[in-house]
Amino acid sequence: MGPVHAAWAVLGLAPLLVLGIPPVWTQPEQVHLSYPGEPGSMLVTWTTFNKTGSTVEYGVMGGRLFDMAAKGDATLFVDSGTEKRRMFIHRVTLTGLKPATAYVYHCGSDDGWSDVFSFTALNDSSSFSPRFALYGDLGNENPQSLARLQKETQLGMYDVVLHIGDFAYDMHEDNARIGDEFMRQIQSIAAYVPYMTCPGNHESTYNFSNYRNRFSMPGRTESLWYSWNLGSAHFISLSTEVYFYLEFGLELLFKQFEWLEKDLQEANRPENRAVRPWIITMGHRPMYCSDDDQDDCTKFDSFVRRGRNDTKPPAPGLEDLFYRYGVDLELWAHEHTYERLWPVYGDKVFNGSKEQPYVNPRAPVHVVTGSAGCRERTDRFNPNPKAWSAFRSTDYGYGRMQVVNTTHIYLEQVSDDQYGKVIDSIWVVKEEHGFSAWF
Ligand SMILES: *[C@@H]1O[C@H](CO)[C@@H](O)[C@H](O)[C@H]1NC(C)=O
Ligand SMILES: *[C@@H]1O[C@H](CO)[C@@H](O)[C@H](O)[C@H]1NC(C)=O
Ligand SMILES: *[C@@H]1O[C@H](CO)[C@@H](O)[C@H](O)[C@H]1NC(C)=O
Ligand SMILES: *[C@@H]1O[C@H](CO)[C@@H](O)[C@H](O)[C@H]1NC(C)=O
Ligand SMILES: *[C@@H]1O[C@H](CO)[C@@H](O)[C@H](O)[C@H]1NC(C)=O
Ligand SMILES: *[C@@H]1O[C@H](CO)[C@@H](O)[C@H](O)[C@H]1NC(C)=O
Ligand SMILES: [Fe+2]
Repeated sequence: MGPVHAAWAVLGLAPLLVLGIPPVWTQPEQVHLSYPGEPGSMLVTWTTFNKTGSTVEYGVMGGRLFDMAAKGDATLFVDSGTEKRRMFIHRVTLTGLKPATAYVYHCGSDDGWSDVFSFTALNDSSSFSPRFALYGDLGNENPQSLARLQKETQLGMYDVVLHIGDFAYDMHEDNARIGDEFMRQIQSIAAYVPYMTCPGNHESTYNFSNYRNRFSMPGRTESLWYSWNLGSAHFISLSTEVYFYLEFGLELLFKQFEWLEKDLQEANRPENRAVRPWIITMGHRPMYCSDDDQDDCTKFDSFVRRGRNDTKPPAPGLEDLFYRYGVDLELWAHEHTYERLWPVYGDKVFNGSKEQPYVNPRAPVHVVTGSAGCRERTDRFNPNPKAWSAFRSTDYGYGRMQVVNTTHIYLEQVSDDQYGKVIDSIWVVKEEHGFSAWF
């Protein structure tokens, strides 16, 4: 072979040398936990970009590492963006965990294992007093409260985190790479405590597919609505978005409404309500708020609160339903502010008494906490709130809650702007629960 031929041979190989061989993506990432609702269980979810096995190896903290193993499976999620990016979402349910016991785990397969994480199996006693962090509207960019939440979670301050809709801003963007990066950001929280979610408007693109595929909440609704129990409370998570994105199916609104009514009936059976007297809901868009935007909650005829009569058939709202079944506490987000309300029903205040409004309140208590931090910054308030508005703050921050026992719940709001200062707190005290407690 002459020198000219040799040069051609090298050039012929050049494209291969420059492009190299594509990397293999078998490394687990975006690890997060959720509580399936069965005592003694925990669900581990993670992502790989190539197909691998789905195993969690775990053991009691302080014991022999990884002496137990559980297998699950992976589903292929193809994002609907132009690149049609593919990823495998792995789900493994651990069962038979000892309550209130710390476990160490990693997840993956022999093609790659995650870092080592730990969690404490939830105490399944109804006299357990679980502690929560709660917030909505946390994004990939400007996630102001994230560092504080990461540290507090790792310090063991929370048993469960409630993320009340609006993630990443937005998970589908940049062909779902924003979703990937956000799930990596919250791993430092969500790999240690169950991270319980509901959908918000920022998840709506491609019919909520990033939300439905990435999270693993209880029930069979792709994480859209579900309920679970912890301590003396029954928790209901719902989609307020079924009232707004009718293009994805008006039937979803009715399906959810029927499910809610059934679930509330079940929770109100005397034997159930005796053990778990608190009923706490979480949904993204509030029924009431006093922000100065034109959002649903600023309107008297809020779709979420009063339903819609521009649909066929008309769609029932949630306020009457929740009032009829004696829902105690309603947690919301979406407004990038914090607002606590006096007990309210039908736009009117129903304090327990003038001196102690939250002692035996005669209507549900609403809290809006949607200022964890995102690229849209915080919102502004209307200068003349209605009589139900009790406390407002435009600081970045998040809520904390403890369901102490069958009669007492403690709630507070943390300001991240004020370096973690607690800027508001209440005790909700109820000696009686259910519809009859309103009178
Ligand atoms: C691994 O994943 C990458 C990125 O999705 C893909 O291009 C590649 O074909 C996959 N390889 C195998 C062996 O599946
Ligand atoms: C669960 O919580 C209850 C109430 O605080 C407590 O009495 C019990 O010891 C806890 N269970 C375990 C296994 O720690
Ligand atoms: C949107 O997703 C929900 C949940 O999977 C499904 O029931 C509904 O049919 C979908 N709507 C459309 C228009 O694809
Ligand atoms: C129904 O629609 C009418 C006309 O828009 C409105 O005035 C009324 O308040 C609506 N009722 C409810 C419950 O939304
Ligand atoms: C409810 O209680 C608060 C706090 O005491 C009070 O400021 C407010 O006026 C009360 N509202 C009504 C309608 O009684
Ligand atoms: C519930 O906890 C509160 C606050 O610690 C306490 O004052 C109250 O006595 C407890 N109630 C019951 C029924 O244990
Ligand atoms: Fe929102």
